[in-house]
Amino acid sequence: VPDVITTLARWRAQLDGVRASGASIGLTMTMGALHAGHTSLFERAATECDVAVATIFVNPLQFNDAADFERYDVDLDADLALAGAAGVSMVLAPSTAEMWPRWPQSTSTVHVPGLADRFEGADRPGHFDGVAAVVAKVLGRTGQCTAYFGEKDFQQLCVVRRMVDDLALDVEVVGCPTVREHDGLALSSRNAALVLSRALRAGADALEGGQPVADAEQVMRSVVSDEPLVALAYASVVDPATLASPSHVAVGMCVRLLIAGVVDGVRLIDNVEAVVGAAR
Ligand code: PAF
Repeated sequence: VPDVITTLARWRAQLDGVRASGASIGLTMTMGALHAGHTSLFERAATECDVAVATIFVNPLQFNDAADFERYDVDLDADLALAGAAGVSMVLAPSTAEMWPRWPQSTSTVHVPGLADRFEGADRPGHFDGVAAVVAKVLGRTGQCTAYFGEKDFQQLCVVRRMVDDLALDVEVVGCPTVREHDGLALSSRNAALVLSRALRAGADALEGGQPVADAEQVMRSVVSDEPLVALAYASVVDPATLASPSHVAVGMCVRLLIAGVVDGVRLIDNVEAVVGAAR
């Protein structure tokens, strides 16, 4: 398990020590809820640099929706275990007050004109100013290093590159290819969540095609089990009035399929109706 540092002063002191010993530093910044996309960055940092370090900090400045920030849940122990297994030896995990002592009062941000205003920036005003601010602060307190950012957030990578260049930060920015699942989807919690609706659709198709309830439930479970980022809570076919498992189903009977799972610490629920079909 990596050493956990909670203050920027200690972070800087530790890293100065690493550099003084002649070792190179590879940094990956994250907001926790780590998955295989992050670990690929850690592994690359650990391969290319003598010491791989990471940050886990949910940055309030980049959430243009306060509720989104409140909902963001980090399981630090799980994240540390994953980071350690991928070769990270030290993690900066500061409190919000340590990183942004003035927040939620006004805090300096960094605007990268043009690049930050389009696409995601147009839909999420201020988002990239908050990203650039926290990246500038962390890179500044980290000092000379190589910093690894995923190409999955391509606009973020462009904004960070430009900012590092404009501000002449002592950092080499490396963009890393997106990790994809076998079906080509990029790894992220949002994409992982889609598996719940896919599972419901597959279960409903099974019932409408005349398959038994137990088979439809099995179909849902197996769709979800293909998605490593989702922990299934339940996948059940129920009588819509009683929520009990229907003991037997007749053609034309209306049932409800319920599903719930946890994706990156967030519990999601969904359901659909299905009309039982005749066996084909
Ligand atoms: O990509 C992210 O997770 C965040 O935007 C980052 C770079 C850690 C800054 O908070």
